[in-house]
Formats: sequence, C-alpha cells, structure tokens
Amino acid sequence: MDLQLRGRVAVVTGASAGIGRGIASVLALEGAQTVLVARRASLLEQLAEEIAQSKSPTPLVILADLRDREAPRRVAEEVLMKFGRTDILVNNAGGSRPLSIDANDDLWEEALSVNFTAVRKMAQALLPAMRARRWGRIVNITGSLEPRTVNGANVAKAGVHVWAKGLACDVAKEGITVNCIGPGRIHSEQIDERMHPTPENQAAFAALNIPMGYFGDPEDIAYLVAYLSSEKARYITGQSLYVDGGMHRAI
Ligand SMILES: NC(=O)c1ccc[n+]([C@@H]2O[C@H](COP(=O)([O-])OP(=O)(O)OC[C@H]3O[C@@H](n4cnc5c(N)ncnc54)[C@H](OP(=O)(O)O)[C@@H]3O)[C@@H](O)[C@H]2O)c1
Repeated sequence: MDLQLRGRVAVVTGASAGIGRGIASVLALEGAQTVLVARRASLLEQLAEEIAQSKSPTPLVILADLRDREAPRRVAEEVLMKFGRTDILVNNAGGSRPLSIDANDDLWEEALSVNFTAVRKMAQALLPAMRARRWGRIVNITGSLEPRTVNGANVAKAGVHVWAKGLACDVAKEGITVNCIGPGRIHSEQIDERMHPTPENQAAFAALNIPMGYFGDPEDIAYLVAYLSSEKARYITGQSLYVDGGMHRAI
C-alpha cells in the first residue's frame, strides 16, 4: 500500500531518541520531508545524516526545549519559513514523571509542561497552516491511563486524550485528523536505561504484564503513525489506540 507520504512535511518532536527517532526514520523512508525537534544537537544531526544517506529528503533539524513558552511558536515559524507548509505533526516528546504524593508545584508544572502544554501549543502553532490547506494529521504519543502510583505524565496524557478528542471534532470538517497512540513498553532510552535497565527486569515485567511476553520496538509505533498520517486514514479521528502487546486492560 502506498501511503502517499512523499512530499508531506512532518514535524516529529522528541526525534533524538527512542520512539520519536523510530517514527522520524519510518516517515522519512516513506518519503516525507521530516523536521526533527529535540534538545540534543548531536543525536539529531546523526539521525539527519542517516536519513539523508538513505536517499530520503534531508531533514530540517530544530533544537528546542519544548518546556520553554516560546519554543512551539519558534519551531512553527522556522518550519513555515523553510517549507511554507506543515502536513503532519507527531507530538512525541515527553516522558514518565513519577511523583510523590506531596510533590511540589514546580515538579507538577514541569511534568505537565512537557507532557501536555507543549503538545497543545505545538498543535496550536501548526494548525493555522493545516487549516489553510484543508489537510492535516496530528498524532499524539500518549501512554497508560491505568496508573498504579501517582505519575505526572499519566495525568498530562489523560489530558491530551480529552483535549485531542475535542480538537478532532472541532477540525473534523477541515480535512484534519487528530489521534492518540498509547505505547505499552517500547524499547527506548527511558525504558532501557531508566525504567527497566536490565534484561531480567524486562523479562519479569513482561511475563507479569504483557500477554505477548516481550517489549515492543519503536517501529511498532512508527508504522501506525505512518498509516494515521496518510490519506488512507482520512476517516479515523478522535481515537486513542494502544500498541502494547495486549498490556492495557481497558476495553
Ligand atoms: N517507551 C515506552 O514504552 C513508552 C510508554 C508510555 C509512553 N511513552 C511516551 O512515548 C514518548 C516517547 O518516549 P520514549 O520512551 O521514546 O522516551 P525517550 O527515549 O526518553 O525519548 C524522549 C524524547 O523526547 C525528547 N524530549 C524530552 N524532553 C524534551 C523537551 N523538554 N524538549 C524537547 N524534547 C524533549 C528527548 O530528546 P532530548 O533529550 O534530546 O530533548 C527524546 O528525543 C513520550 O511521550 C513517552 O511518555 C513511551
């Protein structure tokens, strides 16, 4: 199936590592003009080089800390100045934020700023260009809504689900879709280096929690992103889909 992504301009946040890196690589292989956004220049430049060498369009690299108030507007301006359009936004930057019951305001605000506010602001900054062309795809990488402890990321991502549903309805008649993908356990920096740093820990977690019995790879998320970003998925909007080997229990 040709996803017809050639020539589409796709902004991927958190493209320097993990799931975002996998998403950017797959979209680029499908022919999209990627825009790689994150804080670590060397990792982004390395990915841009790999993509260019694979004969996909050379990515635009934009360094940004998306917790900065002005960052989403600056990213949007740079993209529009360079390409004059944006077709696809993948809001992927973020990460787990376990918080104690009495965590202070600064910790809560940091957790919400990267996992919710930046997502909303990136969409608000890029939507005018999508609306002008009456075509757009917004895919938000969210997470579990089944917490076993307080985690600021869960709270933020629950907000993203509800916000995305409302936004999907608001722009539905304008050729723009808005969807969320919730990963289960996908190999990435935060999973392999911080949350489950040993093979033994990964195997024990998978045996207890994942019906398929193993952690997924970034490409498992990326292929669904590519499909949702395509014209073929024009009738799918306002949805939250899980890519988790059967991990989540909600039906
Ligand atoms: N992997 C999983 O199993 C899993 C499960 C549930 C949800 N998720 C969600 O999936 C997304 C990707 O997670 P991951 O596991 O791939 O994480 P990761 O390996 O830690 O990568 C996170 C990415 O986000 C970027 N990022 C983080 N903070 C940023 C900031 N303030 N400004 C700009 N970029 C920032 C990082 O780049 P820099 O450090 O270079 O800025 C990096 O590229 C996150 O939203 C996460 O919550 C993942």
